[in-house]
Amino acid sequence: MKQEVRVFQDLDALSSAAAAVFLAASSQAILERGRCLVALSGGVTPRPLYGLLARSPYRELVDWSHLHAFWGDERMVPIEDLENSYRAAHDILLGRVPVPAENIHRMQTELDPESAAADYARVLKEYATPPLNWPRFDLVLLGMGDDGHTASIFPGSPVETDRPVIAVNAHYGDRPTSRVTLTPLVFNSARSILFLVSGKSKSKVVADVLYGKRRPEALPAQRINPVEGEVIWMLDQGAANRP
Ligand code: 6PG
Repeated sequence: MKQEVRVFQDLDALSSAAAAVFLAASSQAILERGRCLVALSGGVTPRPLYGLLARSPYRELVDWSHLHAFWGDERMVPIEDLENSYRAAHDILLGRVPVPAENIHRMQTELDPESAAADYARVLKEYATPPLNWPRFDLVLLGMGDDGHTASIFPGSPVETDRPVIAVNAHYGDRPTSRVTLTPLVFNSARSILFLVSGKSKSKVVADVLYGKRRPEALPAQRINPVEGEVIWMLDQGAANRP
């Protein structure tokens, strides 16, 4: 695994750089494989990036017609709910770019969590990279909570699972607790993973995850280690604890 840490002045600069990475990764994937499979993240940190991608020049430069949007996790609330990660990505990005509707693969929050997890595992299998039962994502966007969770893999969750998608219940602030998440099995098959982390409140957990002891059960972000992939940590100065 190749890992890199990039520090930016602020979230705007981080988002601009992430947009350039998104364009490069999607262009390379489409050139090499005819399509780009991206797993989007929830949370507020990626929203400026989504907004940039929905506007010029990225609206014109990204080949949206060959891009497939998936989610790394979802909060099990109706799609009308602003806490729904699909809803946020649709309103800020996907509803504003010419990505074909059939290329948007949201988790079915109309189902109960276990059924939604099983359904998404079926969807992933349709895009699988054999011999895997899920795709090697070309690009995965991940955030990280101040407790070290990523996607909806929270501290104390079962360290390993043999399933690509699971239903979880987890408390994080006032956010929805019922969730469905891809597991490290899927994330660690990815070609490129971008962690987007912003704000001083994250500086301690960033230091713990990147430079502290390996404690993957307590710090789930440490479980993200794509064997044949790269991880780029994109931090603003607050999260990197830089003056
Ligand atoms: C979610 C995300 C979650 C998020 C982190 C950071 O659905 O909320 O999957 O892992 O990325 O909690 O969230 P912020 O970007 O809002 O700090």
